[in-house]
Amino acid sequence: MSFNSLILIWFDKNKRNLPWRDQFDPYKIWLSEIILQQTRIAQGTGYYNRFVENYPTLKSLAEADEQMILKLWQGLGYYSRARNLHFTANYINSELNGEFPSNFLELKKLKGIGDYTAAAIASIAFNEPVPAIDGNVFRVFARYFNIELDISQPKTKTYFFNLGKEIIDQKRPGDFNQAVMELGATICTPTNPDCMNCPVNQSCEALAKKKVSELPIKSKK
Ligand code: ADE
Repeated sequence: MSFNSLILIWFDKNKRNLPWRDQFDPYKIWLSEIILQQTRIAQGTGYYNRFVENYPTLKSLAEADEQMILKLWQGLGYYSRARNLHFTANYINSELNGEFPSNFLELKKLKGIGDYTAAAIASIAFNEPVPAIDGNVFRVFARYFNIELDISQPKTKTYFFNLGKEIIDQKRPGDFNQAVMELGATICTPTNPDCMNCPVNQSCEALAKKKVSELPIKSKK
């Protein structure tokens, strides 16, 4: 079976039950991805729930008092994330008629939304086949395809993005992106990866060559 079929079947069976899953509201997906950028899922989930409770819609966040938003953000750090959330909610609400941009290139124009976040929202909320490349994805692809490029080099990201674009599942791009992230977070971990239980261990090049612990290559820390 193909990488895509194996990882999607694994994801369907093993995906964590997270409050932003099984719904496709771009506002909530955006919120979850911004919170999870520098925060672990275990910590981020409570923040996500409190945000959605206080600000269930984009409009309610746009109209909120920034001090209240920052207060809800307390403990997460990187406060520019919260300020950008408020700024962009306001912008969409007042300049875009409250309509969330629905494709990768338009999403990238928004303040606080880079390649990763634009791809996550576009694929999960709008089914656009664009790869969301985060640290987990670097690791899974580097190992599975035995890629020896240095991931601290900026041009390596372009290589992984292009590879992701080629292989992303066309029918289920959002699930594909989340499945790769999830595999990287739970099985294909930086240290002590659980290759025995990996759904793609039969075709992983690094595993076959006993190079799992050497990949990905990262020169700078
Ligand atoms: N980390 C950040 N966003 C995620 C998502 N949507 N699924 C799994 N892990 C994530």
